[in-house]
Amino acid sequence: MSFRARRLRKSPSIRALSKESILTVNDLIYPLFVKPGKGVKEEISSMPGQYRISLDMLKTEMEELVELGIKAVLLFGLAKEKNEQCSEAMDDNGVVQQAIKYIKKNFPNICVMTDVCVCAHTPHGHCGVIDGREVHNDKSLELLVGMAASHARAGADIVAPSAMMDFQVAAIREGLDQCDFENVGIMAYSAKYYSSFYGPFRDAADSSPQFGDRASYQMEPANRREATKEMGLDISEGADIIMVKPALAYLDIISDAKSKFDVPVAAYNVSGEYSMIKAAAKMGWVDETKCMMEKLLSMKRAGADLIITYFAKDAAKQINNE
Ligand code: PBG
Repeated sequence: MSFRARRLRKSPSIRALSKESILTVNDLIYPLFVKPGKGVKEEISSMPGQYRISLDMLKTEMEELVELGIKAVLLFGLAKEKNEQCSEAMDDNGVVQQAIKYIKKNFPNICVMTDVCVCAHTPHGHCGVIDGREVHNDKSLELLVGMAASHARAGADIVAPSAMMDFQVAAIREGLDQCDFENVGIMAYSAKYYSSFYGPFRDAADSSPQFGDRASYQMEPANRREATKEMGLDISEGADIIMVKPALAYLDIISDAKSKFDVPVAAYNVSGEYSMIKAAAKMGWVDETKCMMEKLLSMKRAGADLIITYFAKDAAKQINNE
């Protein structure tokens, strides 16, 4: 009468019946880098298979996503010219704003999310306004609110503040509500750690800090309880979705997010996590598809409801073929 674990591992059908977690195409959000210009499709050298594209390339990209069943994109914009005012980030005709309008007009069923941070627009590459050698919290909020409002005017469904300024969610929520955008949601980068796994992204978005680092505003990797504090604050400030970023080195934080809060939890499977699998697979050391699926599943198992991943298309293909 003893328990035998292998009874439920006997066959593919029994294993399928007893799966606790499942990854579906509905869970996936695809990040897209849009760049001013025409005919641009540049592969990001540190992120094989990912591109910076201009607006005229969006059609093919979106058709592919729709075909695969992917329902959400997260837009990042590159700047033509950087300045302290981050004017392109606030410009209703900026590249992200135009991308939002194009997608909402031609692919209305796609949920358009936008990253709200100024590091790709400031000459110094920091996520806010510089005061001396420091990033000034409250002065930076104005830029973030301006950027979020401009995305909302263009038709964004959800804005995703990622600058890690205190009160950024409250400021944006208030700013949006004042302009009657009470139905535009906020996916807060709540537990965003000071991580080395963002390296390839900074190549992609041309957003590396020109001096110092982001340790004075992003979270300390050693801290777990602090993440609970951050996530709770963001919910109280009006976040509809909380995010943990990066995902793989922070599965404990995803698990905390799921068990402690009742809003959807997003995991950001960041650039470095993507590129590591790509590189190891290129060397012939691991099976790319299997490692990708196993890692994405680990995020679901930890508690993620949504996963932002550069692997979204590859994973969707895999799921659709199963
Ligand atoms: C903007 C931002 C970053 C990422 C998402 N939004 C970079 C950073 O904080 O330096 C990283 C995403 C990735 O690595 O895939 N602040």
